[in-house]
Amino acid sequence: MDVTICNLAVCGGGNGAHAVIPIARRNVRGRLTVYAPYADEAKRLEDGARVNEGIELVGLHQGLKGKPDRVSKTPQEVVAEAEMVLIVAPAFAHENMLREMAPYLKENVLLGAMPARSGFEYMASRILREAHKNHAVIFAMQTLPWACRLVGYGQKVKILGQKERVGVAAIPATAAPGVAELLTRLLGVEIYPMRHMLANSLANVGQIVHPGIMYGLFKNFSGETFMEDAIPLFYHGVDEDIVELLQRMSDEILQLTKSIQARFPGVRLDDVLPLKEWLRTSYAGSIADPSTLLTCFTTNRAYDGLKAPMRPTGTGFFVPDFTSRYLVEDVPMGLLVTRAIAQLAGVSTPIIDEVLAATSRWLQQEYLVSGKLVGKDLKPTRIPQNYGISSLEQLVQVTTQGWSLQLENGGAA
Ligand code: NAI
Repeated sequence: MDVTICNLAVCGGGNGAHAVIPIARRNVRGRLTVYAPYADEAKRLEDGARVNEGIELVGLHQGLKGKPDRVSKTPQEVVAEAEMVLIVAPAFAHENMLREMAPYLKENVLLGAMPARSGFEYMASRILREAHKNHAVIFAMQTLPWACRLVGYGQKVKILGQKERVGVAAIPATAAPGVAELLTRLLGVEIYPMRHMLANSLANVGQIVHPGIMYGLFKNFSGETFMEDAIPLFYHGVDEDIVELLQRMSDEILQLTKSIQARFPGVRLDDVLPLKEWLRTSYAGSIADPSTLLTCFTTNRAYDGLKAPMRPTGTGFFVPDFTSRYLVEDVPMGLLVTRAIAQLAGVSTPIIDEVLAATSRWLQQEYLVSGKLVGKDLKPTRIPQNYGISSLEQLVQVTTQGWSLQLENGGAA
């Protein structure tokens, strides 16, 4: 595979999209375009970058600046020439973006999400198949390489921390090493190949950390308000109880991987790491004291100052924001997908169920009923059952042998 990118399209207009533009700009030989379909972001981003003569990084990579060649909310104007399309947006925005752009994609495009969260592979495979893009390579990154926050729209973004390495999986799975090499060059961070998409979905750490900490912080919430200076820190606010909860969620996912591997020894899932090990390897340079899971959070510089998502009440106080992406993204496109895979595998996940019970109540969504995934709000989620996968055998077959095999009927589920 050629390890330089000629034309790159970045899709999204939030923190991550702002960060990737100046970083990737250095390594793209041709045009770097941006597809920003949300509200008036395309215009704001283009105007901001024009006034500032590029999007500028502050914090890490201070001063690095890069300008997109074109920004548009009309997909055919910005994705049609791209050899690589990189979606950098919360998972709940993936499907619409992909549906809008699919007809205009090059036949053999490399299309991926950074991060993919869980179940991206089912959704992307279906949409590309329907658009007859049968030669596309789909890739899924395990997370965003940076912790970053916008400082000025279209102009400045602060990079708080950078991960040491990030995994990428692909369909076909054999494409992962080449895609990883390309992304490493593009992003200036080590991107390593994962064995397959199932590993990526289960190794999605956001599904543990975001719903888990929200549950830990607010499980006893009963409507009280917070003064601004009492808003808890999110990652640095974890205590022994929350860390124990996160550990147990991570253990349940590892138990699930063991059960799948026991039944299907060919399906290697060693890319799915215990939470502490993942934090230690991903944030090696940012964690002052890596001795315990608690200190991996509380001494991690990349998490400095990040607060729990809250919304103002209008009277000078704040309440937890249960519509934040920590839940809207990481439950239906994260933890719930893992729970659905556990159901296919016949593995029980009592702690994950406890977290899902509270978080889905906060989201006003019905997913689990009497311990079964039969709730009325499952349709917009990315559980494999929504894509015609109804057994572990089928899931493994798709994972190891490719999508086109047998799920034509599943496309309509
Ligand atoms: P963000 O919070 O900045 O996302 C908001 C953006 O998403 C909007 O500005 C818009 O461009 C897009 N969007 C929202 N709703 C949309 C809709 N209905 N249709 C189309 N676009 C829509 O997200 P951010 O921070 O850029 O994160 C991107 C991904 O990276 C997410 O999956 C996030 O969980 C993940 N991530 C972010 C980190 C960070 O520090 N920013 C760290 C680790 C992961």
